[in-house]
Amino acid sequence: MYSYEDCQATADWLLSQTAVRPLVGIVCGSGLGGLADALKDQVAFNYRDIPNFPQSTVHGHAGRLVFGTLKGRPCVCMQGRFHLYEGYPIQKITMPMRIFKLLGVETVILTNAAGGLNQDYKVGDIMIIKDHLNMPGFAGNNPLAGPNEERFGVRFPCMSDAYDRELQQLALDVGSELGFSDFLREGVYCVLGGPSFETIAECRMLHKLGADAVGMSTVHEVIVARHCGMRVFALSLITNKAVMDYDSEEKANHEEVLQTGKQRAEQLERLVSTIITRLEHN
Ligand code: 6GU
Repeated sequence: MYSYEDCQATADWLLSQTAVRPLVGIVCGSGLGGLADALKDQVAFNYRDIPNFPQSTVHGHAGRLVFGTLKGRPCVCMQGRFHLYEGYPIQKITMPMRIFKLLGVETVILTNAAGGLNQDYKVGDIMIIKDHLNMPGFAGNNPLAGPNEERFGVRFPCMSDAYDRELQQLALDVGSELGFSDFLREGVYCVLGGPSFETIAECRMLHKLGADAVGMSTVHEVIVARHCGMRVFALSLITNKAVMDYDSEEKANHEEVLQTGKQRAEQLERLVSTIITRLEHN
């Protein structure tokens, strides 16, 4: 799909276009692209203008790679990501993680919109992802399937430490300082292929399997980011409650997802930007 040299060419092109040398790479979920707008001294590229880069199609996803600084910290931010349900091969969805790596990124922060399976969760909660269930992976759809590129990482990467524990603790501390503790959670994120939302039976199954939230992104990127040795931190904004029983009148819909994103987005952005200012990079 993309060779190491293809990725290197894309990274080199980007590095020739901007003086920013990002240590942090951010991926903004549905309706959460405001983080990119908070970057100072921006240099932004439409995905379509970046050599080899995939293109974004979904409503609510801008499709720009934005370089800039957050309180002096050099960052790069994907405003709009790629999903399995758009029909991209899984290696295309995750290719930007390898670009991050070649740009010099050490820490990746990902956000997404997710449905709440945990019955204690409320719409608007922010969940720190502590682990994941990779359902497409169970069926052989893993971004690392195929020949391994040793220059990125090992054939069989460990995933039991995928989500950096120190960063989770930092997020809890920062969340508490900002007064967010009431709506800050920690839980397990389950990824599905989408684009159809889950049936009631599927939601019940996922909940029984230990998932607290369900969505259609993030996990593939996390696997590729970990493969090439970047630290990972990820957050889900609970934009709706997954429908868990047959009496419910509720229905999952994309408008609700985007609407909740708008309401909680500012606080989520504040949480992420404060975390970034506390990161230690050597
Ligand atoms: Cl309920 N399901 C999935 N798969 N993705 C979502 C969601 C639900 N809510 C936001 N994203």
